[in-house]
Amino acid sequence: MAMQVLACLNGEIMPVEEAKVSVWDRGFVFGDAVYEVFRMYRGRCFLEAEHLARLARSLKELKFPGCDLDRLMDRVRATIAASGILEGTLYVQITRGVAPRSHPFPSPPVPPTEVIIVRPYDDRPTQAAREAGVRLISLPDLRWKRCDIKSTNLLANVLAIEEAHRAGAFEAVLVDDAGLVTEATHSSILWVRDGILEGTPEGNEILPGMTRKLVLHLTESLGIPFRGTHVRLEELKGADEVILVATTSEVVPVTRIDDAAIGSGSPGPVAKRLHGAYEAAVEAWLAREPEVPARPVA
Ligand SMILES: Cc1ncc(COP(=O)(O)O)c(C=O)c1O
Repeated sequence: MAMQVLACLNGEIMPVEEAKVSVWDRGFVFGDAVYEVFRMYRGRCFLEAEHLARLARSLKELKFPGCDLDRLMDRVRATIAASGILEGTLYVQITRGVAPRSHPFPSPPVPPTEVIIVRPYDDRPTQAAREAGVRLISLPDLRWKRCDIKSTNLLANVLAIEEAHRAGAFEAVLVDDAGLVTEATHSSILWVRDGILEGTPEGNEILPGMTRKLVLHLTESLGIPFRGTHVRLEELKGADEVILVATTSEVVPVTRIDDAAIGSGSPGPVAKRLHGAYEAAVEAWLAREPEVPARPVA
């Protein structure tokens, strides 16, 4: 089957270029929207239930009216089947709907706008980054105070990753007003000190990352202890290893932050073990999951 980048807009599947939303859409006007990115391996969404739970939480925290997540997942499966894409990413965005521009929520509520986009993902550049290790730059965290909600209000993240890329870096590590490390622009950040894996404790200042959650679960069977703690940027630079984790890039070792080499300046052993365990978890899940039946296009 030919691969095609497809969108499903409010239940209607079409080539992504044909999917259009109103200029009154509150996602467009206010960024009044939430999203999720799923990684697809062999045509199936990894950590599906976990991503859905986070989506439900984001919707609840932003006081969205009810959204039918079972119907959403039916549409997700139909869009994947129609796309023929096996290795890819699946993007879901839900906005508060279409209404003439006015700050308060529409009253009575209007139907949410729901968009699903399936597209192929080529892991090879990230694979190379995983093998070589990557450089980060540090930047102030200019985001709002509810970074635990996966909203599409990503301007501070966008500005930071742009600056990182202009500096030739893979990602930016964000540092809050108190000088403490939060996370990266679209990755969670973990580090190793004295054999202990550490990360910023979950809270309003970081996204509860799905990959981080999985990796922390995997560390239990690897016998690697974890501790949630805050660090200053200088302490992070002095860690034995620094590791980025995220849905698309999986587990990526950091070998430099600004001008400082991390550890030996090469990818460290914990990052390698965690990525190995991540790959094994994907394989085990694929072996457990029944094949996805090809569905008729909705
Ligand atoms: C700010 C931020 N932190 C962390 C992550 C990693 O989260 P996940 O592992 O769920 O992809 C992302 C992913 O996009 C993100 O945007």
